[in-house]
Amino acid sequence: MNNLIEIKGVRHAYTTADGPLPVLDGLEIAVPEGGFVAVVGPSGCGKSTLTRLVAGLMMPDVGEVWLHGERVKGPRSTVGMAFQNPVLLEWRTILQNVMLPLEIVPTKLSRKEQKERARYLLALVGLEGFEDKRPSELSGGMRQRASLCRSLVHKPEVLILDEPFGALDAFTREDLWQTMHKVKEAEPFTGVLITHDLRESIFLADQVVVLSGRPARTQYVLDVPNTGPRDLEHLYTPEAAEMLAVLRHQIEVAQGRAPVEEGVA
Ligand SMILES: Nc1ncnc2c1ncn2[C@@H]1O[C@H](COP(=O)(O)OP(=O)(O)OP(=O)(O)O)[C@@H](O)[C@H]1O
Ligand SMILES: [Mg+2]
Repeated sequence: MNNLIEIKGVRHAYTTADGPLPVLDGLEIAVPEGGFVAVVGPSGCGKSTLTRLVAGLMMPDVGEVWLHGERVKGPRSTVGMAFQNPVLLEWRTILQNVMLPLEIVPTKLSRKEQKERARYLLALVGLEGFEDKRPSELSGGMRQRASLCRSLVHKPEVLILDEPFGALDAFTREDLWQTMHKVKEAEPFTGVLITHDLRESIFLADQVVVLSGRPARTQYVLDVPNTGPRDLEHLYTPEAAEMLAVLRHQIEVAQGRAPVEEGVA
């Protein structure tokens, strides 16, 4: 199998006081090794639920999630996660926060090597010199950079990012997009990025999956032709404008605000 992540026919409903709430209904996503897939869809359609299934924090009612040819049945140390809110521990320094997963996941690294790895990652994202600061001494963008280092420190095969840049201002977000490309080159991973920013999806990912409204199914898949690092100018090309128009239309369909065209799944 060439796909490192495979989500096959996944259906899931939450049990609520008002009865079952169907959230995912026929999800199909495949990410090849080294691939980076962005998932976009209306608010509340089930994107964060999808990340929990891939991370093995929850099992789907129906369907399967496979990572590297093995069916996911529980949490795995080969997965790293980063979220919109970085939740760094204030009583630890930035370096100690980045090293946290190494205290949980078994590692062959000595304490000295662990520190070296954390320092290397912090330098990679531009946080050299901030190792001994506390989280509250950093800006939102810097905290998100530190959170990214923490999600990568144990060399996960799979990185799941759930709206990691959602709370940042536009310029900081664009800086972080470029940092992401740099990080992916230096520390290759197979990624799933949840985002509601269509520009972010085509700038970072090599495939964009649009989910329908809840219960979510895979509504549309767009292949982004430029893979690997790209600069922000790419977002101002006619090709990018066309991709964004297609995605925007698909989101409107998902929200029930535009009719489904014939021939579109
Ligand atoms: N633990 C839970 N128990 C019951 N319902 C839940 C639970 N978690 C999420 N939901 C519901 O499931 C639906 C999907 O939630 P989810 O967080 O996956 O959506 P999302 O696509 O990530 O939304 P957003 O774009 O706002 O982050 C929502 O209606 C939410 O209220
Ligand atoms: Mg969410």
